[in-house]
Amino acid sequence: MRIVILPDAADVACFAAQELAGIVRGKPDAVLGLATGSTPLGTYRHLIEVHQAEKLSFRRVQTFNLDEYLGLSSNHPASYRHFMNEHLFRFLDIPLEQTFVPRGDTSDVEGECQAYERRIVEAGGIDCQLLGIGSDGHIGFNEPGSSLASRTRVKTLAERTRLDNARFFASLDEVPTAAITMGIGTILEARQVLLLATGQGKAEAIREAVEGPLSSSLPASALQLHPSATIVVDEGAACRLQRADYYRLAEQQRRRLRKEA
Ligand code: PGA
Repeated sequence: MRIVILPDAADVACFAAQELAGIVRGKPDAVLGLATGSTPLGTYRHLIEVHQAEKLSFRRVQTFNLDEYLGLSSNHPASYRHFMNEHLFRFLDIPLEQTFVPRGDTSDVEGECQAYERRIVEAGGIDCQLLGIGSDGHIGFNEPGSSLASRTRVKTLAERTRLDNARFFASLDEVPTAAITMGIGTILEARQVLLLATGQGKAEAIREAVEGPLSSSLPASALQLHPSATIVVDEGAACRLQRADYYRLAEQQRRRLRKEA
């Protein structure tokens, strides 16, 4: 795993946006896996700036979001489809029909999950999957205990997750109790993964994900199995890492080698 420790959340956002922009520059029809939540907002703002400043086109890009609340329609203000339209897609030149988010209000949940997996395969697989991390270590809505081989399916939300996300709803009662989420197995098939975390509230989850044992009790630890996973954290989220000095050294060396090449 590559661990990148940056001074603050703005640097994390800038780094992630440059990574995503670099992928689209190199492959104009790239398939991006996207995430919602507070963490990627800065990344999306930077990406929009890059799109505008450099005229970087997303016309041929396809996107797959990690998850959606079960029962919410795409126009519900707290739905992840609405979030993506509002915070990213409407600012890019990407046709909306090339952006995929599981349909939370489907009457055929099983069919929707299978179709989502099929669409990812038909798109040629995900080039880079952007991830946040829950304070309980979840990725997507794969809560602790999720099978490390899981595929897109319905997961019951942990109470801690519902509490964490209540800020997006009028009250805790309105937070859905389940979601459709890509599985951990689905996420691990992305050719590259980029997990972002900022603030001390994520420090323990990051420590366990990076330095703890591989365990379904901490779903993000599954990234230890991925051949190309980059974990980008600010000083707050990095503050419990035991080997922080080593990660900084490795990054310095990486930059030096790149300059020499
Ligand atoms: P957050 O959510 O970015 O809003 O902290 C992350 C997550 O739950 O995956």
